[in-house]
Amino acid sequence: MSENKDNFLLSAQNISKTYQEGKVKTEVLKNINFEIRPGETVAITGSSGSGKSTLLHLLGGLDQPTSGLVKLLEHDFSNLNPNSRAKLRNQYLGFVYQFHHLLPELSALENIALPCFLSAKKISKSDIYDRANLLLSQVGLSKRSHHRPSELSGGERQRVAIARALITQPICLLADEPTGNLDHAHAQEVFELLMSLNSLHQTALIVVTHDLNLAGKLSRQVSL
Ligand SMILES: Nc1ncnc2c1ncn2[C@@H]1O[C@H](COP(=O)(O)OP(=O)(O)O)[C@@H](O)[C@H]1O
Ligand SMILES: [Mg+2]
Repeated sequence: MSENKDNFLLSAQNISKTYQEGKVKTEVLKNINFEIRPGETVAITGSSGSGKSTLLHLLGGLDQPTSGLVKLLEHDFSNLNPNSRAKLRNQYLGFVYQFHHLLPELSALENIALPCFLSAKKISKSDIYDRANLLLSQVGLSKRSHHRPSELSGGERQRVAIARALITQPICLLADEPTGNLDHAHAQEVFELLMSLNSLHQTALIVVTHDLNLAGKLSRQVSL
C-alpha cells in the first residue's frame, strides 16, 4: 500500500495489456492512464475491439495488466492476488454488464440481495432485505419483487442488475455496454436511471458505451 494524494477512487497508471495465445500476441492497450474521483461520471468510448472491456476488466481487478499499475483507493489493486482483489471488488465496486447475469432461479428481490449475503461485511438479513426493497422501488419494480428474470422484460432485467450492483453501497459502479441489448427508447430510460441512481447514492460511475449520444450525458468522456 502507498499513499493516494490525489483523492482518486480508482486509477490506471501507464497500463498496457497484451494477450498471448501460443505465438500470437495481441497488444490491446498501450500506456493508458485513467483516473476517477468520488462522484464523477466517465464514459469510455471507442470502436468495437478497441479494448474498452479490457480496460474495464483491468480497472475492476478481474484481470491484471501486462505492465503498469491499477490503484483502488490506497491499494495497489493490480498487484494483489485474485482472492484479495475479489474481496476489495466486493467491498468497493459494483458491476453492470450488457447481459444481466441474473440467477434464473432467484426472484428479482433475491437477485438484488445476493451480493450482500456474499459480502465479508456482516449485515443482518432484515437490513439486507430493507436495502433490496428500497432499491427495487428506486428502479421502479416494487410490483415485480417475486418475478424471476424470465418473467421480466429486457429493460426490467437491466434495472434489477443495476439495483444488485448498488446494494453493497459501492464507491464506484463499472458498467460495460449496460444498454447494449435494449432498443433505443429503453436504452435511454435505463441509462437515465443509472445516472440518477448514481447521483442519489453518490457513487462514481464508469460506463463503457459505443453510443456517443449516451456518453455525452456523463461529466467526462475518454476515447480509446
Ligand atoms: N482473453 C483474450 N484473449 C485474446 N484476445 C483477447 C481477449 N480478450 C479480448 N481480446 C482481444 O482484444 C481486443 C479488444 O477486446 P475488447 O476489450 O473486448 O474490446 P471492446 O470491448 O472495445 O470491443 C480484441 O481484438 C479482442 O479480440
Ligand atoms: Mg466490449
